[in-house]
Amino acid sequence: MGQNAVITGWGYYVPSRVVTNADLEKVVDTSDEWITSRTGIKARRYAAEGETTSTMSLRAGRLALEKARLRPQDLDIIIVATCSPDYIFPATACLVQTALGADRAGAFDVEAACTGFVSGIAIARGLVVSGSHQNALVIGAETLSRFLNWKDRSTCVLFADGAGAVVIEASNASVGIESAVLHSEGSKGELLMVAGGGVRHPASQKTLELGQHFITMQGGEVFKLAVKSMADAAEEAIADANLRLEDIQLMIPHQANLRIIEGVAKRLHFPMERVFVNIQKYGNTSAASIPIALCEAAAEGRLRRGDKVLLVAFGGGFTWGASVLEWFGEHEPGRPKSIVERASRRVEDLVDRVLPS
Ligand code: UT7
Repeated sequence: MGQNAVITGWGYYVPSRVVTNADLEKVVDTSDEWITSRTGIKARRYAAEGETTSTMSLRAGRLALEKARLRPQDLDIIIVATCSPDYIFPATACLVQTALGADRAGAFDVEAACTGFVSGIAIARGLVVSGSHQNALVIGAETLSRFLNWKDRSTCVLFADGAGAVVIEASNASVGIESAVLHSEGSKGELLMVAGGGVRHPASQKTLELGQHFITMQGGEVFKLAVKSMADAAEEAIADANLRLEDIQLMIPHQANLRIIEGVAKRLHFPMERVFVNIQKYGNTSAASIPIALCEAAAEGRLRRGDKVLLVAFGGGFTWGASVLEWFGEHEPGRPKSIVERASRRVEDLVDRVLPS
């Protein structure tokens, strides 16, 4: 474990179609007042026809690679966290791999619902810190609009589409992704699920009639557990990083409900001014919400080199987890793009130092 894992690139993509609460008032029995006061959501994005989880992942992934000044050919692994993949198989990550031209990369999906991105970070960190991989592209992406039941107003106003990505690289820096904790409680799985389409309820006339291809959720139960679990995971991840809550400059929580986010902050006695919230614009994009929020936080200047950042998530499964990282930011502008160029530059530096001029 000689090297650290740091985020060196990030990027996100949201579809251009904006759907406001007022738009939803026209199709379901709801109101802007209800949605805003119960969830904090004002608008969300839905994928256009032809747009999918892999196409959005590709856009976010390309931006993250550009920011990291890394070529697709130099990628070691691609992880896509999603519960709305293009297909049951092949993995969405494989579709991204070929579209990117990431010839050397392994690729697989992670399914932990809204905790998927934090799970992907935990896996990528392990691969990089162990020394077996030099870098990873971790993407959180969802097209949940395709699983919405327009007859269920308690869920259809919440979920939406988008993708966010980060590049994680090995570094000799003294800090990086400092901790990642993951938990689950499978006995609660049926409180939030898409029941149809798997081998237990393969797609049939009956699954269609029963609405089993839609998201179903017992919102109140999920709410209560979300607040406690996210707060517990946050404390655990901070302790694992040998830090205290007051060391954290920015918390980036999964954006499921503004009241859940406020509940977590209150339980931790953490000031809301240091919590990043963008649910008003995008709704609940499940595995995509944290990486999209991270990108917007960076763009707004809320992440400076050296800042300690807490990512914390909760979702179907149930699953929950958190990760603490020290923000590294962008590489120096002159950084060569390819690993080969970078290695040869390092050899030249070494030769310069060793050989007398
Ligand atoms: O991302 C992963 C995990 N997901 C979550 O964390 C979501 C967790 N749950 C929640 O965010 C909240 O439970 C909801 C936003 C889903 C619901 O909020 P709530 O305050 O728990 O409302 P409720 O389900 O208790 O419903 C209260 C009332 C009900 O009417 P009655 O029975 O009191 O007359 C619902 O029928 O609100 C009604 N309602 C709505 N009214 C207008 C439910 N949905 C709507 C709606 N518009 N869209």
